[in-house]
Amino acid sequence: MKKLLALAATTPTEYVHLEERFELVRLAQVPDPEQAIRDHADDIVGILSNAGGIAVTRRMLEALPNVEIISQFGVGVDNIDLQAAKERHIVVTNTPDVLTDDTADTALSLLLAVSRRIVEADVFVRVGRWHSGAFPLGVSLGNKKVGIVGMGRIGQAIAKRCAAFGMTIFYHGPREKADISYTYYADLQQMAGHVDYLVLACPGGAETKHLVNAKILKALGPKGFVINIARGSVIDQDALLVALSNREIAGAGLDVYQNEPQVPEALISMDNVVLLPHIGSATQETRAKMGHLVVDNIFAHFEGKPLITPVG
Ligand code: NAP
Ligand code: GLV
Repeated sequence: MKKLLALAATTPTEYVHLEERFELVRLAQVPDPEQAIRDHADDIVGILSNAGGIAVTRRMLEALPNVEIISQFGVGVDNIDLQAAKERHIVVTNTPDVLTDDTADTALSLLLAVSRRIVEADVFVRVGRWHSGAFPLGVSLGNKKVGIVGMGRIGQAIAKRCAAFGMTIFYHGPREKADISYTYYADLQQMAGHVDYLVLACPGGAETKHLVNAKILKALGPKGFVINIARGSVIDQDALLVALSNREIAGAGLDVYQNEPQVPEALISMDNVVLLPHIGSATQETRAKMGHLVVDNIFAHFEGKPLITPVG
């Protein structure tokens, strides 16, 4: 039986369909992953990877001579060495679109939570502090300016939601989009200086590494908030910690971090941040759709049919 290498600690229930036709080698469940790869190398024809999960490196691909497909559970593919895959004619698929709305909802949850101090307010009630005075005031979203970094599928869904809250939308990316009516900024620092909220929705990887650095945070200023549902690598995390602790920016809502699942102690002790454990797309409905897409892409490939959601 042909084998698929599953990299994540847990796999979606939809992968049971794969097990009708393939044996799954679950890397997280073997005592010696490197040995398991060597033992099964010749039979492994596909890799089941996860956005933000274990990296699919050139070295891993070199160890697997018969891999034909990498099917990613998630839309971001910054953990995959796409060049190494291309050189071997290994196809890559991901799970776009089905997770767009939930991820945009997560961005809005962060935006609301950090502005209206929702998490702090919940703790305030639970620990009985309401009896001793009123909760401090938050900040309204209405009439505020939001700058979206990466006006793609998720960026546009975030923009739609922000507009419904009465916010004015601006965006930054590699190029102005003819079909988008929001004001475009080619210069991120200029946009940061103009907006109240900077929302990151671009891909991770080398091209966007530390796109948001000390200069951008300084431009955002003491009333500005940064929301990151993109990748931890997009923000210089050390610069963010300094800006937050010196109140050079007002606060941050973060779903992603530089070295997940490590979250710096300094962030955990701050009251001007809301911290989520990379749950952008984490709903039952969306995760099921993502699981089905992974399965359908694998079946399509091995049945010689067109891939449903190829990368590139
Ligand atoms: P998408 O449709 O490809 O959108 C990405 C956008 O980013 C595109 O508009 C692209 O511009 C822009 N972009 C590319 N390079 C950029 C740069 N250097 N600076 C600024 N913008 C840049 O992808 P998507 O489906 O919206 O997903 C976006 C990202 O969200 C994913 O790659 C992933 O990292 C992240 N994500 C996170 C979660 C989570 O759980 N937190 C869930 C899903 C996705 P062009 O169109 O001009 O190329
Ligand atoms: C999640 O981070 C994704 O890229 O789907």
